[in-house]
Amino acid sequence: MPELTLLKAADCIPLRQSVLRPDRPGSENHYPQDDDERSAHYGIRHRKKTLAVASMLHDPRGDVGSEMWRIRGMAVLPDEQRKGYGAMLLKTLQAIVAKRGGGAWANVRTTAADFYGKHGFRQEGDVFDIEGIGPHVLMTWRPEP
Ligand SMILES: CC(C)(COP(=O)(O)OP(=O)(O)OC[C@H]1O[C@@H](n2cnc3c(N)ncnc32)[C@H](O)[C@@H]1OP(=O)(O)O)[C@@H](O)C(=O)NCCC(=O)NCCS
Repeated sequence: MPELTLLKAADCIPLRQSVLRPDRPGSENHYPQDDDERSAHYGIRHRKKTLAVASMLHDPRGDVGSEMWRIRGMAVLPDEQRKGYGAMLLKTLQAIVAKRGGGAWANVRTTAADFYGKHGFRQEGDVFDIEGIGPHVLMTWRPEP
């Protein structure tokens, strides 16, 4: 059975590269807050293979609220998508955010906006382009009071 597991940032790099940025320099897969002790990285593993990864980073931004955690590097191997792994990871990170207090934000690819929307994230502002990757939207989520 695939299992949810805590990872180190370094364990997330291969999927960030192959799923999210296959044509971009490898250095873009190291996020500045990766090793901050407040950040957390989770994955789904099966038979020693990592099928999916996601990170929650301490990367507050004033325009959406300084208590907001950033969800970044959400990547599921192509053959493993639409099996519920992304949902499992996002729900795990949302539960941690809810426990710590605050909310979450993410720069979401427009192709994944409906996925985040299903998990309670709401779009803020207009679509913008990230060079070399494509159109994104800022999305935010706060736990129910
Ligand atoms: C987007 C992604 C993280 C979703 O993870 P996943 O494991 O494929 O999704 P799940 O199987 O957990 O899907 C959960 C729900 O979201 C829906 N969903 C999944 N991917 C979707 C997408 N791209 N667009 C719209 N809905 C999507 C599913 O239909 C499912 O809905 P349901 O519960 O009503 O059946 C994954 O497909 C992925 O890595 N895609 C490529 C990289 C990417 O775009 N990452 C996000 C960067 S912001």
